[in-house]
Amino acid sequence: MRLSRYFLPVLKETPSEAQIVSHRYMLRAGMIKQQSAGIYSWLPLGFKVLKRIEQIVHEEQIRVGHIPLLMPTLQSADLWRESGRYDDYGQEMLRIKDRQGREMLYGPTNEEMVTDIFRSHVNSYKDLPLTLYQIQWKFRDEVRPRFGVMRGREFLMKDGYSFDIDRDAALHAYNRHMVSYLRSYERMGLTAIPMRAASGPIGGDNTHEFLVLASTGESEVFYDAAVTDLALGARDVDMDDRAAVQGICDEFTTLYARTDETHDAALFESAVPEDRRRVGRGIEVGQIFYFGTKYSEAMGANVVTADGSRVPVEMGSHGIGVSRLLGAIIEASHDDKGIIWPEGVTPFHVGIVNLKQGDASTDSACNALYSAVIGKGLEPLYDDRDERAGAKFATMDLIGLPWRITVGPRGLAAGKVELTCRRTGESEELSMEAVVDRLGQIYAGI
Ligand SMILES: Nc1ncnc2c1ncn2[C@@H]1O[C@H](COP(=O)(O)OP(=O)(O)OP(=O)(O)O)[C@@H](O)[C@H]1O
Ligand SMILES: [Mg+2]
Repeated sequence: MRLSRYFLPVLKETPSEAQIVSHRYMLRAGMIKQQSAGIYSWLPLGFKVLKRIEQIVHEEQIRVGHIPLLMPTLQSADLWRESGRYDDYGQEMLRIKDRQGREMLYGPTNEEMVTDIFRSHVNSYKDLPLTLYQIQWKFRDEVRPRFGVMRGREFLMKDGYSFDIDRDAALHAYNRHMVSYLRSYERMGLTAIPMRAASGPIGGDNTHEFLVLASTGESEVFYDAAVTDLALGARDVDMDDRAAVQGICDEFTTLYARTDETHDAALFESAVPEDRRRVGRGIEVGQIFYFGTKYSEAMGANVVTADGSRVPVEMGSHGIGVSRLLGAIIEASHDDKGIIWPEGVTPFHVGIVNLKQGDASTDSACNALYSAVIGKGLEPLYDDRDERAGAKFATMDLIGLPWRITVGPRGLAAGKVELTCRRTGESEELSMEAVVDRLGQIYAGI
């Protein structure tokens, strides 16, 4: 992409309505535009990052055998009456009537609908285990939408629903989700800590929330400092090996880590050495639940077991806050000049800054570099505007591309361009060929 032809409505002024850094930078970098309270348009740069996050979520779900589908945003009230939640859900649910006067709602979540799909098509233990998931817009009429996409009213969620024949299999599905979530967040450059959660309106005993530590987070968190050192890394996990998957979950959930909802002060003191006790704040970027037969019993989703009896299917539901993640990533990765995207989610892999636009040899070097980067399978953003170098650097720093190549007549005379790392600010001089190879190496494992 050439910046002169892109749509990047960068703001010079800091928008006064934004209280936290991620919201400020998303507005200033032209990523989102508010249309109503808690409802946003995703402008091209924001949309690109949203798609990268979605892509990681899809890849990691499919890797563990979960199956994508797409359900509608509008649902019928009757379905929710079957579970009893139509009346329970309260004012967060946006209720709508169609022209026939039928009661509808904009889905805040999809347990009822997916249970309806399941009961219509699945009857036997032979079709299990099954996990269906979607990435779809949700609406919750939050009392206080705020912090931009972090607490929206309309927001994008990955919601997955597991169906199993018995409790052990359902707990394995729960664990599988935990591992797939850990890997997804790591690929996004985040440390998200699974913390024991309170079950809330969905019900069930087994539930963890995943929290990204950030001073602006809405949850108070209490944890053993050692949890922040845990990482899944590139280990190869056999997802069918229940004991191995359980082992990983134990590794990530044994050290103390809880939100204020489940915090136990006495246990915190007895279980965690004083110098490792931490109290801070966190952003909830996902949650997994095992709730058993709550919906299958209410809605008649039964399966025949191997010995011929009929039992309600064991279920869990598992969510990732896809649109909230943009805010969480920025809260975790920025400086006073702007965003610093982790390589895994960056909207463009590298920025190219032309220091002397209009100079024939600098322009042609930039064009050659632009093509060579694309040739490596990477996406460059080439700032080819007729602007001062300072303005070009400021834009690149604000939008946060992790790498920048600076091309100017002086360097070119020596056959060199400059590669700068956004995070460290360190630069090195490289030949045109070497810089393209370096980028290829940087992104090879990502
Ligand atoms: N209003 C919202 N705006 C953006 N993302 C949200 C919102 N509500 C929930 N999410 C995201 O969707 C994920 C799964 O939804 P879940 O039902 O667990 O939300 P929740 O526990 O009600 O969230 P919260 O406690 O933050 O209101 C959450 O972990 C969060 O990342
Ligand atoms: Mg939650």
